Amino acid sequence: MKYGIYGIPGGRRQPKSLLEVRDVTVRFGGVVALDHVSFDVASGEICGLIGPNGAGKTTLFNCLSRLYANHSGEIRFAGQALGALPQHRMAGLGIGRTFQNLALFRTLTVRQNIAVGTTCRRGTGWLAHALRLPAVAREELAQAARVDELVELLHLGKVADLPAGELPFGTQKRVELARALASSPRLLLLDEPACGLNHQEVDELAVLIRTLRRRFELTVLLVEHHMGLVMALSDNIVALNFGRKLAEGPPAEVRRDPELLKAYLGEPREARVMQ
Ligand SMILES: Nc1ncnc2c1ncn2[C@@H]1O[C@H](COP(=O)(O)OP(=O)(O)OP(=O)(O)O)[C@@H](O)[C@H]1O
Ligand SMILES: [Mg+2]
Repeated sequence: MKYGIYGIPGGRRQPKSLLEVRDVTVRFGGVVALDHVSFDVASGEICGLIGPNGAGKTTLFNCLSRLYANHSGEIRFAGQALGALPQHRMAGLGIGRTFQNLALFRTLTVRQNIAVGTTCRRGTGWLAHALRLPAVAREELAQAARVDELVELLHLGKVADLPAGELPFGTQKRVELARALASSPRLLLLDEPACGLNHQEVDELAVLIRTLRRRFELTVLLVEHHMGLVMALSDNIVALNFGRKLAEGPPAEVRRDPELLKAYLGEPREARVMQ
């Protein structure tokens, strides 16, 4: 029997990590938004990405979802380099995201917004749709079932047929999450999902993220300023400051990192980073 890389029979390379970020640098004129950032996210883990305002967290998300393509360094997802792939391929590849500033279709209903997320899973082409082949009907049924499942899971039943733009902020955030999940991602990028939520909603969000990870076997990269949430949920944490990686490791270690404490507080104290 032939043994290849990592001793796997057949020699087919299995990626050690679902996501590999290598030496990624992004500049906006004189601003270095990301400065040679490298880290890995293992399959199935929740990785918290933290750092003060302007640290480069959203910029990194934009590189991962190919909104920014002009970075140096390399990003690999499931062993595949993203460099050559266009932005519209990301959802189909298995990377879903929510946005720091909500990006819903405000006049479409909740159900329609979520359905948009399923379109990247369409296997039938325009001709099949024009001829209304049976495969199209089967696919539409499967997509509708996925939307129904997400409406129920994210407690959106009562508002499913209302325009998304009319809903309270916390509900709109759940709609965005549902839409990201509708594309059946393997990697879910959440950019400040707790921002603007009250205490009870943050507690519910923590339960929801854990449930979703289990149910859909997700790997999650979580950008969050709510330290209580990120410390409680994350298996591992990557901390950025001024575009540079400052600390990395399990929450219990990272929360004591003197560099990180200095970045947040200007002085080495643990207490407030744990809040
Ligand atoms: N499109 C852009 N053009 C110019 N500068 C940008 C752009 N996007 C981000 N920046 C700059 O890059 C740096 C990193 O910004 P980024 O939005 O990634 O930070 P962040 O960690 O997400 O911050 P926050 O916690 O406030 O959301 C900042 O200095 C920001 O002003
Ligand atoms: Mg941001």
